[in-house]
Amino acid sequence: MASFDEVMVQLVKRPAQHAKFLNTLSLLEYIGARKILKSQEASTITGEILGHAAEEIRHAQTFKKLALKMSEGLLETYQDEHLLAGVGARQYIQAIDQGVAAKLKVPHAALNYLLTTLLIEERANRIYPGYDLILTECGFPSALKAIVREENTHLHDVRAALQHMDNQLIQSLDELRVFEAGLFSRFMDQVLQAIH
Ligand SMILES: [Fe+2]
Ligand SMILES: [Fe+2]
Repeated sequence: MASFDEVMVQLVKRPAQHAKFLNTLSLLEYIGARKILKSQEASTITGEILGHAAEEIRHAQTFKKLALKMSEGLLETYQDEHLLAGVGARQYIQAIDQGVAAKLKVPHAALNYLLTTLLIEERANRIYPGYDLILTECGFPSALKAIVREENTHLHDVRAALQHMDNQLIQSLDELRVFEAGLFSRFMDQVLQAIH
């Protein structure tokens, strides 16, 4: 089971692959934004949800710009040849969403959104601050500074929103975290395989 740090050790030595990884994170941010919008009925979308979706789109754009800079403009699309373990990345985010839905048993769109977002935001808050330092060493100083700040706010917001929800799944968050950690490790394994 590979970790994000193991992946980084390999990527910093390989800019062409590293650029593809940045593009893959761009794709994940983009899918995240799309999921936020698709998970809500238009009638219940709040200013906060719109703000969150808009920020995720901006994160996708930030990673895309970095990918383009690091690849000298090559990685214009999200086609598989422009990604690193693109299939694994899509599986990772879809599996979280579907796994939360399965554990909810009874469909509950709002809670599904909040729990999926919680797991993804916790992951982002764990890896992005360190990644910002790595990118600084790669010649992109503080490239993720705004993203780190915004993901922290998202995590804070989603935790606050969950406090108003009443469901037994909220009592078993650690189980969900273990589930997400397994999926993330599998994604990192797939990235390592794609590098070698
Ligand atoms: Fe994001
Ligand atoms: Fe976020």
